[in-house]
Amino acid sequence: MSALNTNVAVAVIGAGAMGAGIAQVAASAGHRVWLYDNREGAAAQAIDGIARQLARRVANGKLAAEAREACIAALAPADSLEQLADAGLVIEAIVENLEIKQALLRQLEAICAADCILASNTSSISITRLGAGMSRPERLVGMHFFNPAPVMALVEVIKGLATDPNVAARVLATALAWGKQPVLARSTPGFIVNRVARPFYAESLRLLQEGAADCASLDALLREAGGFAMGAFELTDLIGHDVNYAVTCSVFDAYYQDMRFQPSQIQKELVDAGHFGRKSGRGFYDYREGALRPDAATLHSSAAVPAVIVEGEAGLLQPLLERLAQQSVSISRRAGRGLLRVGDASLALSDGRLASQRAADDGLNDLVLLDLALDYRRCTRLGISWATGTSASAVDQVVALLGVAGIQVTPLRDSPALCVLRTVAMLANEAADALLQGVASAADIDLAMRAGVNYPQGPLAWADQLGAATLVTVLDHLQAAYGEERYRPSLQLRRQLAEGARFHE
Ligand code: NAI
Repeated sequence: MSALNTNVAVAVIGAGAMGAGIAQVAASAGHRVWLYDNREGAAAQAIDGIARQLARRVANGKLAAEAREACIAALAPADSLEQLADAGLVIEAIVENLEIKQALLRQLEAICAADCILASNTSSISITRLGAGMSRPERLVGMHFFNPAPVMALVEVIKGLATDPNVAARVLATALAWGKQPVLARSTPGFIVNRVARPFYAESLRLLQEGAADCASLDALLREAGGFAMGAFELTDLIGHDVNYAVTCSVFDAYYQDMRFQPSQIQKELVDAGHFGRKSGRGFYDYREGALRPDAATLHSSAAVPAVIVEGEAGLLQPLLERLAQQSVSISRRAGRGLLRVGDASLALSDGRLASQRAADDGLNDLVLLDLALDYRRCTRLGISWATGTSASAVDQVVALLGVAGIQVTPLRDSPALCVLRTVAMLANEAADALLQGVASAADIDLAMRAGVNYPQGPLAWADQLGAATLVTVLDHLQAAYGEERYRPSLQLRRQLAEGARFHE
């Protein structure tokens, strides 16, 4: 299916943050663009704003002056909806309200040509539901841009129950022609990104609420071990807790209060207090003048660097052993059940059990558990927790060992699957469930999470790297530890495990 020809006019309705950005994207791609807003003067004002912003880019040498002029010349404010009659694609980005959007779509049906595509930038309303009031819902499609639209590559193209597949394909091709990375999704609550990303926030919020570690420590682990651009607390402070909490509540309700999406009391408390994050000066962190940013908790050790004895398979920790060997740490091997002996300590990657539980189950003394890293070859920090009764010297020896490789160590109170492991396990689980339910393809789910929220790798690629067996074990242990169905492994993960299948070839 080909993209909309650039000689076809595009109309954008709603000249707020999203509408202005989308209009800029379409104009930059060579379309003539109408911008309409029912607030008088708003469309012209938005075009002035785009012109000023593009002038700054020209001044910084990031944009050619001719490109700016062509973009501005292509943008025109419309005074009435009737003026949009010649558009071949209309994208609405008005207030997020079902009735108001439905009324607008009905008006547009009467104004626009029969072959005009109607698209909605809604982030939470069902495209199927939006189309229900229309006489020809087959030409309605979701075109979900991310903020800021000119910068963010992802566009989720959403098919409602009635959407004509050719309409979705045309919009997909058009988004691609506009320089975006479009993905195709079925209209289900949260589409791809706003659904699959929920555990990223939820697991950190839960760990904080349970006193596993403080915000700065958990954020540092997600960044420096998990490879995420930001931790959950700094990111929700940036997004705004009012916005992030509302999305969680809407997804939770839409999935009939599935505990997997349960909102957090501590985030609600911030919203109740008006501590929305950066924009209000306070959130999990304090952004007021002179406020100090807390540091992550970091353990220090003056112990001698111990030798490592690998008992059995090192599994996912093999790259860490190679890194340690490069630092001249003595590493020897003997038979066993997948443990590292580090001086007095028994060291292992968490399998989702509490350290104390695993020590008791497996009859281990001085057990220290490691958190997951995106890449043990490069991470600069790792989380650890230990079983009750583990000696201070055993912990010290582990900290000394990791220190040799330049890895800082953050302690967590004994918690199932620590921080990065549980976050990644739950992201992979949600992504697998979205795949199971036919929301999108595995490739599109991973692309959406990389391009829409900058994840260092797609959750399904991560699942392939960890293996379905590891993920199912970790999730089963989390479920047993909490006694909550929130952690139930998706049937899709169990299926991958049973079939020995991977998400990506
Ligand atoms: P906004 O409040 O900045 O802008 C909305 C604009 O629509 C306002 O200028 C308003 O005057 C105009 N408007 C309201 N009702 C109208 C009507 N009946 N006819 C014409 N114009 C009307 O909102 P924002 O943030 O740009 O969001 C717009 C849409 O995009 C919403 O559906 C939102 O859920 C969605 N969205 C928002 C994202 C964000 O990060 N802000 C991200 C992705 C989607």
